[in-house]
Amino acid sequence: MITTNYLIIGSGVAGLTFAIKIADRFPDKKVTIVTKSNADESNTKYAQGGIAIVTDETEDSYQKHIEDTLICGDGLCDVEVVKMVVTEGPKRLKELIAWGAKFDKTAKGNFDLGKEGGHSQNRVVHHKDQTGHEIERAILDQVHQKGNITVLDHHFALDLITEDNQCLGAFVLNQKTNEIITFQSDFTLLATGGIGHLYGHTTNPIIATGDGIAMAFRANASIKDMEFIQFHPTALYNTSVGSKFLISEAVRGFGAYLRTKKGTRFMLDYDNRAELASRDIVSQSIDLELKKTGDDCVYLDCTHLDLEPFTKHFPMIYEHCKKIGIDITKNWIPVVPAQHYLCGGITVDKNGKTSIENLFACGECSRTGLHGANRLASNSLLEALVYSDKIYNYLAEAPFENVLFISSISDCKLELKPIINPDYIAKIKTELQLLMRQNAGIVRFDVDLRKAKEQLMQWQDELETIIKNNQISTELYELCNMITIGNLIVQQSIERDENCGGFLKFAPSYNCRKKIKRVT
Ligand code: FAD
Ligand code: SIN
Repeated sequence: MITTNYLIIGSGVAGLTFAIKIADRFPDKKVTIVTKSNADESNTKYAQGGIAIVTDETEDSYQKHIEDTLICGDGLCDVEVVKMVVTEGPKRLKELIAWGAKFDKTAKGNFDLGKEGGHSQNRVVHHKDQTGHEIERAILDQVHQKGNITVLDHHFALDLITEDNQCLGAFVLNQKTNEIITFQSDFTLLATGGIGHLYGHTTNPIIATGDGIAMAFRANASIKDMEFIQFHPTALYNTSVGSKFLISEAVRGFGAYLRTKKGTRFMLDYDNRAELASRDIVSQSIDLELKKTGDDCVYLDCTHLDLEPFTKHFPMIYEHCKKIGIDITKNWIPVVPAQHYLCGGITVDKNGKTSIENLFACGECSRTGLHGANRLASNSLLEALVYSDKIYNYLAEAPFENVLFISSISDCKLELKPIINPDYIAKIKTELQLLMRQNAGIVRFDVDLRKAKEQLMQWQDELETIIKNNQISTELYELCNMITIGNLIVQQSIERDENCGGFLKFAPSYNCRKKIKRVT
């Protein structure tokens, strides 16, 4: 058994920034980060566009950023949370810079601000098109400098340990030795990120399997807004299942057009903001166009853009396209919508507290109320930065009562049980991804959701028996977690009775407010 004061599960922006602060504040306390892959592997590392922050109040204002966030969230945001997150942005940016993260500047020394869908102003602070990579580098570097932080990579958190609605720690699988370690912690933070691989076609890396949300659900935490899955309009089109390369929305902010195969700039028909409408509208419009034309993808046209500033802002995208034979000065980039982000998750209050004592959640796995029915572009990194600070402030003041470790929780040992056939797991995973794409995608039908629910319940029962009788492995647990998340998405989609934001369902006798409006 390992005891620690703070157990942090996940090493993206949410987990690492909390770790840095709490370790500085309490140098005599132990901070432990467990993470299931290499320490830097996370959705954070792949963030491209940047962080939405009001840095120049001559053109922009907090009020405008607040309004853009609220419009994008389509009536379901928590207004107080939106105000809090938006107004704290500049302080959090200063901290990132102090930790060594670098952001692009103009010749005059101001931040070079990008624009993305749903933003009325240029306000996205970025590091070329690799903002997440730069942030992850800087904060991981800080973490490694703290003597009281231990980072345990390739450690997969299996389940939370709870007693009387109190979190006491977690069971964690050392993926290299196959040993299950019991962690006792005073405070536990879930910072496990998104769910992309439940859909197969996703911009997320393979670590995004919804583990933290599934763990919290098994521990009876409140989970909300799981029906609000965000599909990014412009993932690079290819036919294989797996992580898809993202063509940042900032490319449209830079002036790129969306076209059908025949060349029509179709977004002009759907929204006055055209390519810079919010993500839900652009993805739903592309979906409709593809159904109308029968084409496999639409295209992003950059041929009219100035190459030199383009390559300065988007060197990675330019090079990636070039490598696969797309010269962006001559060829359009084939794109499709792909799962990108989860707006819902583990319900937290303004201090990041979950409904379980001593358990906190931060970042993409949490549901704060900021995003409502659809997240405004580049508000995710901002949310994680603001909430890790909120949790830190709350815990900096919290009385330190060492949690009594309940004697009934003993070290969990791996018994000698048969190893599950990996082909079986791979087969169910593929079927699950297809089921989610077909039944819980951009457009949903009540009847399909109900059928999907039956299949998910059947897999859940099968998997419970398998977990009991076979050796626990990362793959097996991830599959169980994804089935749990699938169930939550499908169930909450069935329950929602009005279309809004990224949620579009057709059902008999239900208030199906038409989402995609044609511009008249
Ligand atoms: P993550 O960064 O995903 O970190 C989760 C961590 O938890 C990982 O280290 C993972 O290994 C670990 N973990 C998960 N499960 C377990 C387990 N069972 N045991 C142990 N460890 C576990 N947002 C913006 O605001 N601006 C952008 O420009 C932007 N661009 C994006 C581009 C891409 C391609 C993607 C995929 C996302 C983008 N986003 C962007 C969204 C944003 O990057 C994420 O929402 C955010 O980084 C999430 O941070 P996080 O710390 O919550 O989770
Ligand atoms: C992008 O660069 O298009 C992603 C931005 C985001 O997800 O907020």
